[in-house]
Amino acid sequence: MTRTAVVTGGGTGIGRAIAEQLVKQGLDVVVTGRRADLLAAAAREVGARAVAFDAADPAQVEAALAELPDRVDVLVNNAGGNETRRRPEPTDLAQVRDLWTANYASNVLTAVLVTTALEPRLADDARVITVGSIAARRGSGSYGAAKAAIEAWTADLAFRLGGRGITVNVVAPGVIEDTDFFGGEPLTGERRAKLVGNPANGRAGKPADVAAAVTFLASPEAGHITAQVIGVNGGSALGR
Ligand SMILES: NC(=O)c1ccc[n+]([C@@H]2O[C@H](COP(=O)([O-])OP(=O)(O)OC[C@H]3O[C@@H](n4cnc5c(N)ncnc54)[C@H](OP(=O)(O)O)[C@@H]3O)[C@@H](O)[C@H]2O)c1
Repeated sequence: MTRTAVVTGGGTGIGRAIAEQLVKQGLDVVVTGRRADLLAAAAREVGARAVAFDAADPAQVEAALAELPDRVDVLVNNAGGNETRRRPEPTDLAQVRDLWTANYASNVLTAVLVTTALEPRLADDARVITVGSIAARRGSGSYGAAKAAIEAWTADLAFRLGGRGITVNVVAPGVIEDTDFFGGEPLTGERRAKLVGNPANGRAGKPADVAAAVTFLASPEAGHITAQVIGVNGGSALGR
């Protein structure tokens, strides 16, 4: 039977690369995201199917279920981003609350709502992979805190679903260029040097680097790797 995959945020950057690699592995892939036109074009290009909805909105997730696969072998919770980059520095408590709430919605609720909605459809031996961030261990304010929350939730889910052979992991990238994460502009000059820093392999990551780790964790062979956080950061953080 052909394995199925749902990749949230699959229209751009890392999610798109993940969808592309899963299609190459022979899976039937659904990509999701809010911008329907962009998503449809990306889906066509990689050979996936597009289902547009806001993964942080319970009603939209619920409504999308009719278009999502009846059986899900691989769920990649990739949708997210750093809302701090899209807003001015908060100047009062209401703005602080709004920023924290926005990062929580974008990075935690998207994963929790889609996974909860699809949980009854997860096949035995399914794979659930959520894209976290190196920021979870580095600070990074409300964005890092949201990505840290993903790690705690992942551990809980791994124990709850482990008896069915389902694995649940986080892939935590360092700086990945060629995504819309930094505002859609190519990373250049001083900004790039500061962000990339001095990793062991001397380079920034690419979406395909993250996709390779996700594809491995999504494979049937990776059944004994669960409740883990796998760094894809070129050695920017030491994995021990
Ligand atoms: N690039 C990096 O350096 C880096 C580093 C560490 C972790 N990450 C993480 O990697 C993941 C992918 O980001 P990226 O770097 O590939 O950036 P990206 O190109 O901006 O991709 C984010 C994707 O998520 C979708 N998305 C965001 N909020 C959504 C929502 N509420 N509902 C549905 N879809 C939503 C976006 O599509 P729509 O706007 O159309 O909805 C977009 O396709 C994110 O979780 C990010 O936090 C990135």
